[in-house]
Amino acid sequence: MTLENKVAVVTGGASGIGEAVTRLFVERGARVVVVDLQQEAGDAVVADLEDAVAFIRGDVSDRAVADLAVATAVERFGGLDILVNNASASRVRPFTEQTEDDWKLALGTGLFATRNFMLAAYPELRRNRGAVINFGSGAGIDGQPNQASYAAAKEAIRGLSRVVANEWAADQIRVNVVAPMAKTAGVAAWADANPEQYALSAAKVPLGRFGDPRTDVAPVIAFLASDDARYITGQTLMADGGAIKLR
Ligand SMILES: NC(=O)c1ccc[n+]([C@@H]2O[C@H](COP(=O)([O-])OP(=O)(O)OC[C@H]3O[C@@H](n4cnc5c(N)ncnc54)[C@H](O)[C@@H]3O)[C@@H](O)[C@H]2O)c1
Repeated sequence: MTLENKVAVVTGGASGIGEAVTRLFVERGARVVVVDLQQEAGDAVVADLEDAVAFIRGDVSDRAVADLAVATAVERFGGLDILVNNASASRVRPFTEQTEDDWKLALGTGLFATRNFMLAAYPELRRNRGAVINFGSGAGIDGQPNQASYAAAKEAIRGLSRVVANEWAADQIRVNVVAPMAKTAGVAAWADANPEQYALSAAKVPLGRFGDPRTDVAPVIAFLASDDARYITGQTLMADGGAIKLR
């Protein structure tokens, strides 16, 4: 499943699942513009992958950052074929305790960043018959407690993705969603803070474990980004060990 000669933007691509995607994409022949808030992690990815990546330190909820990422893909690598809207941030607490700022964070980094990057990327994606991979979550599909703003953002992203998959099908641009379950550093921190919820979640996974970002999740995103998935659009793929079965 090659990504030879493809150019991707990966938001949140300096750590967690996004970093795994960045590294796998480069391994499969792509060049990647990584957008992330973490300067040090971004520098480390560039140090390893050298000319195959460009790093932009920026906040994905800022439309100007989306425009800069697309411009960088064009200037450095000659265009843009794949957009991976992976970045996301949120706070975990009961619905009645979630503040305006919590909602702003979840919707800003989730829904609005996804919208901004899709809008910024559209001309290039149309030119190259590109692919968009957005991110949902089992927390949204299942209604996990304490995740109201995050769940709302993630389910809004799935609705947006289905609509745009239909609208952009005429341009041969595919838009799909991945809902992963992976033990990243972020999930490990969440597990430490919420041991009961973590134990419950892990016990529900038929394959018996939280996934590995590099070997269990990134290949699913690479598949959706590749020409092997050329007849798949508007779908949500659960990369979650069988925890949730969508119909
Ligand atoms: N890990 C899981 O089990 C799981 C489960 C369901 C959904 N997801 C989704 O998968 C995606 C990746 O998850 P993860 O666990 O790797 O997350 P993570 O928190 O480990 O990493 C997120 C990355 O995004 C970056 N980021 C956060 N806010 C940003 C901002 N405003 N601007 C730019 N960069 C920003 C972070 O610096 C980090 O590099 C997210 O969309 C998440 O909601 C993950």
